[in-house]
Amino acid sequence: MAVRAIKKGIYAVGAIDWDRQLFDELIPTPQGTTYNSYLVEGSEKTALIDTVDPSKTSNLMDNLEETGLKIDYIIANHAEQDHSGSILAVLKKFPDAIVVTNPQCKKLLKSFFQFSDEKFHVLEDGESISLGDKTLKFIFTPWVHWPDTMVTYVEQDKILFSCDFFGSHLATSQLYAPDEALLLVYAKRYYAEIMMPFRPMIKTNLQKIYKLDIEIIGPSHGPLISNPSEIIKLYSMWVSDETLPQVILPYVSMHDSTRIMVDYVVEALINRGIEVKPFNLSKVEIGELLTALVDASTLVMAAPTVLTKPHPLLAQTIYLINLLRPKLEYGAIIGSFGWGTMMEKEIKELLSNLNIEYHETVLIKGIPEEKDFQDLNNLADQILKTME
Ligand code: FEO
Repeated sequence: MAVRAIKKGIYAVGAIDWDRQLFDELIPTPQGTTYNSYLVEGSEKTALIDTVDPSKTSNLMDNLEETGLKIDYIIANHAEQDHSGSILAVLKKFPDAIVVTNPQCKKLLKSFFQFSDEKFHVLEDGESISLGDKTLKFIFTPWVHWPDTMVTYVEQDKILFSCDFFGSHLATSQLYAPDEALLLVYAKRYYAEIMMPFRPMIKTNLQKIYKLDIEIIGPSHGPLISNPSEIIKLYSMWVSDETLPQVILPYVSMHDSTRIMVDYVVEALINRGIEVKPFNLSKVEIGELLTALVDASTLVMAAPTVLTKPHPLLAQTIYLINLLRPKLEYGAIIGSFGWGTMMEKEIKELLSNLNIEYHETVLIKGIPEEKDFQDLNNLADQILKTME
């Protein structure tokens, strides 16, 4: 990847990972990703802001070589290895460089790598470092999405290097996204997969971001953001307590009983003017479902019973939803069984992190009959009531 100038004395020196299809061995990244690293050259000192994933260290080192600049400071906004994984290589090339970071990040870096204390300058929240004609200001943003996360603001250029905050897993050769709408889709997906569990903390940290005069956001994944107000506005909505009147319906079916129920309830909801989106768990890519959960008010879960429990495809999905804590308000369980089921109890236990009010469960034996369809109509009526 080439070195690219963002502004005078500010360069993108990170790496593009076109092939990465999975993050954390869990989250699909169908558009690949980038590990952004930035070089800020002041009149007296030069700082490198974050490094790259260890798999791309050679890209970063080639880029640094190309600039011909000597690095005085390595700013570690966040210790996770996709941003810190090349620090040792950079320190090897620039042995006098100092790692500038916050106390939490220092602790984590020391647990991942061999570091001596004298390699660090440990910051206080709001502290600045002068590079001569450029000043870096450091603002702690804990739990966005680790305890150590912070952002770096270049005062003179009004650029915010936000690390994972406002990021997107979107590989592109362009510095800025060629299609802003696409960027925002992937930023929302990134929020859903990485940031959503930390909604209250992000809300608090956004207050610090509102105070900054920002022209460009340089996240650590995905393209630069030239319209910061739009993404900040979207984050404000995503972390707010407001939900949209939408039903998200993950389902799995083995012998069609559950699928017949799903088809019926989807139509019943549409007939009542309710926005509904079913996700067939044996086909859907999980990131699509998680993104849909960012705003929705209602989750309807549908599955057959397997050995008295919900089908494992639904169970594993619910486990992840419970971890990611979307701001859902209402839930419902529908499905089928052959001779007995403990599905309702099991699902409610799996979703114990969520504070949701449940509509009446509809579990049927065998193939649905007239009475069961009436129960599904009742469920659709109950959902409608919450949206009127
Ligand atoms: Fe992109 Fe939290 O690392």
